[in-house]
Amino acid sequence: MKVLMLNGSRNAKGCTFTALSEIAKELTAAGIDSEIVHIGKDAVNGNIDAAVKEVAAKLKESDGLVIGSPVYYASASGEVVAFLDRLFWTAGDDLRHKPGAAIASARRAGTTATLDVLNKYIQYCEMPLVTSNYWPMVHGFSPKDVMEDKEGLQIMHTLGRNMAWLLQCIEAGKKAGVQEPAAEQKVFTNFIR
Ligand SMILES: Cc1cc2nc3c(=O)[nH]c(=O)nc-3n(C[C@H](O)[C@H](O)[C@H](O)COP(=O)(O)O)c2cc1C
Repeated sequence: MKVLMLNGSRNAKGCTFTALSEIAKELTAAGIDSEIVHIGKDAVNGNIDAAVKEVAAKLKESDGLVIGSPVYYASASGEVVAFLDRLFWTAGDDLRHKPGAAIASARRAGTTATLDVLNKYIQYCEMPLVTSNYWPMVHGFSPKDVMEDKEGLQIMHTLGRNMAWLLQCIEAGKKAGVQEPAAEQKVFTNFIR
């Protein structure tokens, strides 16, 4: 089994990456593979279509998804929003029933607003939302700060273990013959007709 993780920061190896790496440690301990893809740069440098295509292909082969974003101006980064708008519109069907989680990294404020934005993508696609024992956030301006945020690290570890457990439950359910609910024909109105 594999979990794909998206780093929506401009920084390839910053705070968001550090938090995602802590989740990855728990997945590895549970025998689950993971990959962190840095989407934060290609979302805004003219490469978004190619980057979305690449991630969509990886998602087909993945069993779970974690979206990570730094807080920019008290919300999710513009990079991650641009990327997710395209990804979920084109690859949403491949995400159905795959567990998903969102995490935020901030120096100080705007984490819950960021999580609200990110969780909406997960909820739209019938993905079971994986949670922790607090809203999934770390605090810091540098990776070193994040490693000193002991509560933030613990929250990431719990989230990683919960993701691993849910993936194992889904796999066990499939082996036991539990059927996924069939997709319903979506009712799509514009409030007028
Ligand atoms: C453009 C920009 C806007 C930011 N806005 C906020 C903010 O509103 N609240 C906050 O706490 N931190 C803010 N920060 C700080 C980052 O969210 C924080 O340092 C984060 O942990 C960086 O993660 P990264 O290293 O993965 O990029 C901002 C940083 C940038 C570059």
